[in-house]
Amino acid sequence: MRQITVIEHLLLHQKENPLATGNFTRLLTELILAAKIISRAVNKAGLMDVLGETGEINVQGEQVQKLDEFANRVIIHRLQRSGVLCAMASEENADIIEIPEKYSKGKYFLVFDPLDGSSNIDANVSIGTIFSIYKQEKDTDYPTLGELLQKGSQQVAAGYFLYGSSTMLVYSTGQGVHGFTLDPSVGEFLLSHPNIMIPKKGKIYSVNEGYFPFWDDKTKQVIASFKDVSAGKSTYSLRYIGSLVADFHRTLLYGGIFMYPKDCRDPKKPRGKLRLLYEANPMAFLVEQAGGMAVDGEQRILDILPEELHQRVPLFIGSATEVKKVLDIYKS
Ligand code: AHG
Ligand code: MN
Ligand code: MN
Ligand code: MN
Repeated sequence: MRQITVIEHLLLHQKENPLATGNFTRLLTELILAAKIISRAVNKAGLMDVLGETGEINVQGEQVQKLDEFANRVIIHRLQRSGVLCAMASEENADIIEIPEKYSKGKYFLVFDPLDGSSNIDANVSIGTIFSIYKQEKDTDYPTLGELLQKGSQQVAAGYFLYGSSTMLVYSTGQGVHGFTLDPSVGEFLLSHPNIMIPKKGKIYSVNEGYFPFWDDKTKQVIASFKDVSAGKSTYSLRYIGSLVADFHRTLLYGGIFMYPKDCRDPKKPRGKLRLLYEANPMAFLVEQAGGMAVDGEQRILDILPEELHQRVPLFIGSATEVKKVLDIYKS
C-alpha cells in the first residue's frame, strides 16, 4: 500500500481545499514538529525527569505538571516563528499570546491545550494535545481578544495529537476527519484512518460518575437513562479514562457518548470543567465533521459565542442517537 503523509494528503486535496495554501501547510508542519517533540518527551518521560508537578498553579486553578509546561513552551516557541499566526491562546496562559515584534505575522489564530489529561501523566496513561485554528477577520497587526473570541463554527481547522499506544494525529479542515499514525522509524505521520465517520449509535457511555451527588436532577436522569435496561432497552458499558483526547478518540471510533456535565457544588461555577475554546470547540468541530453531535445540554456547542478566553462549558458529545437522547431529557 502506498503510504500518504499528512502534508501530502493536504496537498493532494488542495483543489477542493481552500486552506491548502502555503501558509496553512506551514502552520500544520510546525505544529506536527512540535507534537513530535512532545511525543518523544512523553515516550521517555520516566527517563527524562519530566514527570511530576512544577509547584505552580495555573490560570485554571490547577497544579501545573512539568509536561504541561514543557508542551506549552515547545508549541509557543515553534509557532511564534512560523510567520503565519497573528496570536495564540493556551489553556496554560492567562492572556492572549502575542507574536513578538521580531517575527513576522500572519492571519491565523492558534488556540490550544498543550497537554490534555494531566492527571494521567505519571501513570503512563494516554494523554494528548488539542488545537483549533481560526482566521483573523480584520487586517490589523495587533488582534484584540474580541477578534479571537469567535464561535466554534468559525473554526477553519481543528484536531488533536494522541500520545497513546501509538501517537496519532486526527484533524479536519472541514472536509471530513482524517487520522494519521506516527511511524517512529521514519518520523512521519502516515494516513491510517481516512474519512472517519462516527457510528450513529454506540454501546458506551463515558462520564466521571464520582460526581453523581453534585449533578442536578435532569443530569442524574440523563446518566440513569444509559443504565436503564427495562423493557428490553440495550445495555451500555461504561469507560472513563480522564483524558478528553483519549475518551473522545474512543467515542469517535466506537460510537456512544462522552459527558462532562455541570456541577452544582459551586453556584459560581455552573459550567462544568471543560474549556469551550481549548477542548469543547475543537472536539465539536471534529465530531460534526464525522456525522455526530456536540451540545451543552440545550444548544449546539459550535453556536456558543464565547465571552472569555477560559470559559467553561458542559459537554455532551458523540453519536447522534445518544446526544439526541440527552437533548430530549433536558427539554422534557
Ligand atoms: P487538562 O489536563 O488539559 O487540564 O484537562 C483535563 C480534563 C480532561 O482531559 C478530562 O476529560 C477531564 O479533565 C477529567 O476531569 P475529572 O478528573 O474531573 O474527571
Ligand atoms: Mn489543565
Ligand atoms: Mn485538557
Ligand atoms: Mn491541558
